[in-house]
Amino acid sequence: MNPPVKIGIIGGGLMGREVASALARWFMFENLPVQAELFAVCDLAEKQRDWFRQIPSVKLVTADHRELLASREVDVVYVAVPHHAHEALYLDVLKAGKDLLAEKPFGIDLRAARVIAEAVRESGRFVRCSSEFPFLPGAQRAWQMARENKFGHVLEVHSGFHHSSDLDPTKPANWKRQTKTCGAIGVMGDLGMHAVHVPFRLGWRPKRVYAQLQKIYHERPDGKGGMAPCDTWDNALLHTDVDIGGHEVPVRFEMKRLAPGETNSWFFEVLGTEGGVKFSTKEPKTLWTFQRGKEQLWEKTDLGFQGPFTTMTGGIFEPGFPDCFMQMWGAFLAERAGKLDGRFGCATTEEAVLSHELFDAALRSHAEKRAIPLGN
Ligand SMILES: NC(=O)c1ccc[n+]([C@@H]2O[C@H](COP(=O)([O-])OP(=O)(O)OC[C@H]3O[C@@H](n4cnc5c(N)ncnc54)[C@H](O)[C@@H]3O)[C@@H](O)[C@H]2O)c1
Repeated sequence: MNPPVKIGIIGGGLMGREVASALARWFMFENLPVQAELFAVCDLAEKQRDWFRQIPSVKLVTADHRELLASREVDVVYVAVPHHAHEALYLDVLKAGKDLLAEKPFGIDLRAARVIAEAVRESGRFVRCSSEFPFLPGAQRAWQMARENKFGHVLEVHSGFHHSSDLDPTKPANWKRQTKTCGAIGVMGDLGMHAVHVPFRLGWRPKRVYAQLQKIYHERPDGKGGMAPCDTWDNALLHTDVDIGGHEVPVRFEMKRLAPGETNSWFFEVLGTEGGVKFSTKEPKTLWTFQRGKEQLWEKTDLGFQGPFTTMTGGIFEPGFPDCFMQMWGAFLAERAGKLDGRFGCATTEEAVLSHELFDAALRSHAEKRAIPLGN
């Protein structure tokens, strides 16, 4: 077995800590030909840095990302910082000759995504973009069924990600609510990659988009007794046309911060004349499949724990967010080692740029109240 791949994290907030958790349980993978350990962490905030000091494998903790990138021991860097900081940090990681698992949306806007993509190409480094929900067993089954074209003439597709905590007007503002740090694409930057990853991987490329975007709360408590402006889009419905099986099919992408009752619901649904599939993290172990026979049947299957990378976890146990996040890391490092072996891989640079092309067109569509063609 080769020595462990040493990981560095830049941005030790919500997502940086999830990576620490995934790497700390690496021994749960069965037969994964790659070992990994968290070696270095960088965050501007002392409180965040301190949290990582409890992890025995962490040998370098710094407030300066250049110090982390200068370490010859770091092989791969995960960057999870606000969107306005993606471009500069991703470019620095590539310049330092490290491989990169980038967070979505892969730059604050389309221009930044294209600059990063060009730098990835020039560097020759292995780079992927984070998107973990497709690694859940239900999502995997739905992806396989779509890949095998089990639906007859596809009638429509819905793919989306819904949150609800922003319904509370007293929820404080943060960088995700402001255009200068989150980006003009707002909720599409936050949740959009999650919605497009599986359809894009199936080769379903929107030909045009008609977008409906909503801003609901224009200010929120700033956490210091005052109010802060919130100028990002909260909800986005992207109605697109996609060629599937030789037909033009309506594919709707939904990204919402204000979806009543939906704490963190990722879903993917395909409906066709012969069959259909629905999976949502709201019912994390349930796969719904449709069959049209003499009678029309929606069947409900209880799935077990089978991710693309087998683990020691009991086969009947329920998977959750930390599990699909760990599977995504398994996929990233297996693909980096040339050992993906046909399994589902992380979102690519090309898919990330395509997502920005869609979101950029959606902004124009909403402003001009018309469908915008996409070049493909
Ligand atoms: N894959 C997912 O499911 C998922 C979920 C949430 C967020 N995200 C993405 O992850 C990224 C970070 O989001 P988050 O929710 O973890 O944010 P967060 O605010 O919780 O954490 C960001 C951290 O980055 C640090 N930071 C900012 N600039 C830095 C710099 N120059 N050097 C070092 N540290 C710096 C901050 O101090 C903070 O601790 C974003 O791109 C976001 O879209 C992904």
